Amino acid sequence: MDFKTMREDFPTLRSSDAPAYLDNACVTLKPQSVIDSIHRYYTETPGCGGRSVHRYGTAVSKGVRDARKGLAAFINAESTNEIVFTRNATHSLNQIAHGMSWNKGDVVLTTDREHNSNLVPWLQLEQERGIDHRVVKSHENNTFDLEAFEESCKEAGSNLRMVSMSHVGNLDGVSIPIQEIAKIAHDFDALVSVDGAQSTPHMNVDVQELGIDFLSFSIHKMCGPSGMGGLWGRYDLLDDLRTIQSGGQTVTSSTYTEASWAQPPARFEGGLGNFSGMVATGAAVEYLTTLDMNAVHQHEIKLNKIMTKGVKDIAGLEIIGPEDATQRGGICSILLDELPTHDVALLLDEAAGVMVRSGQHCVHSWFADKGLPQGSLRASAYFYNTEEDVKRFVDTLTEIVHTLG
Ligand SMILES: Cc1ncc(COP(=O)(O)O)c(C=O)c1O
Repeated sequence: MDFKTMREDFPTLRSSDAPAYLDNACVTLKPQSVIDSIHRYYTETPGCGGRSVHRYGTAVSKGVRDARKGLAAFINAESTNEIVFTRNATHSLNQIAHGMSWNKGDVVLTTDREHNSNLVPWLQLEQERGIDHRVVKSHENNTFDLEAFEESCKEAGSNLRMVSMSHVGNLDGVSIPIQEIAKIAHDFDALVSVDGAQSTPHMNVDVQELGIDFLSFSIHKMCGPSGMGGLWGRYDLLDDLRTIQSGGQTVTSSTYTEASWAQPPARFEGGLGNFSGMVATGAAVEYLTTLDMNAVHQHEIKLNKIMTKGVKDIAGLEIIGPEDATQRGGICSILLDELPTHDVALLLDEAAGVMVRSGQHCVHSWFADKGLPQGSLRASAYFYNTEEDVKRFVDTLTEIVHTLG
């Protein structure tokens, strides 16, 4: 695929002095079609979907329906009713964690490289409900230890209720073997919740093929608008979940003494929604659907190989995760030894318009465990990034390190 010509679709990439935007693991840029869709909502049909029957309402309802349909097809969900619109992946993960009924001693397994969004809800449930959250340690190079996982499942035995893990880590780009994990977890009658915030935008994610139960994802990391996320769940499981935000639309009727719950997904979408966001999600998914997601993944690896080759031998720098870039997708996360990561990130932007992320990337637990409070410098690529972008990153970083080091 010719990703280079697609840069024209992104207003911030059109000019000759466009930045080398390498902070895609945080949030991606938006194509014109998504921006236009938001604008169209506010200028042409600024109504409320799912309730009002006038023209504005009907147009919005159709836009929301189409967006849900597009998302269902994108991740190969069995039904559009399995797609819930949320504010972000954090909201989705909280809906799962706080929507289930828990018994004291129920075991939840995560990895040791989770974003706070897939760690803190379990810590909260541990404090408030007495669940037993356990961490499966990765290999030394941050790759998944399937044997340690299987051992943890055996130790938990019949108490194992949930395996909740990020498909691709935002810390290091390392992916885990979800299909095998799901098979093992299901042998123990546990549920499998996948944090797909870093996988869904970058590779083929087929929820049926993966054999999982829940998928949480960030639409704002998929060329979509901010304030939008998604939750997919197997319908029977969604139907068993309590909503964490009850109110308008979450019930079919109410009296002064009781309410009748609506079916998913409406049950989880309480209150007036982010309609411009939902409709523009349709535009984002339509855009992504034109891409070959395998080619996107390969393109990011190609760029990561250039970054890896460029920084791996710089004295004092260390890439988090395996040296082989094919195992880290589009993420190159670098420990800078004594150099201050935020200052280096600022200099990259000031000196050469290279935008990366610095700090602990909401994976405080991993950095705390390793005693690395400074965090890392993380460059993360997407399909619209070019070889020139990553070379600019490598060259400027090299210069900064030599100057400050
Ligand atoms: C792996 C992972 N999980 C969860 C999140 C949280 O996503 P959101 O900001 O959509 O809540 C992120 C965000 O960076 C992430 O990278």
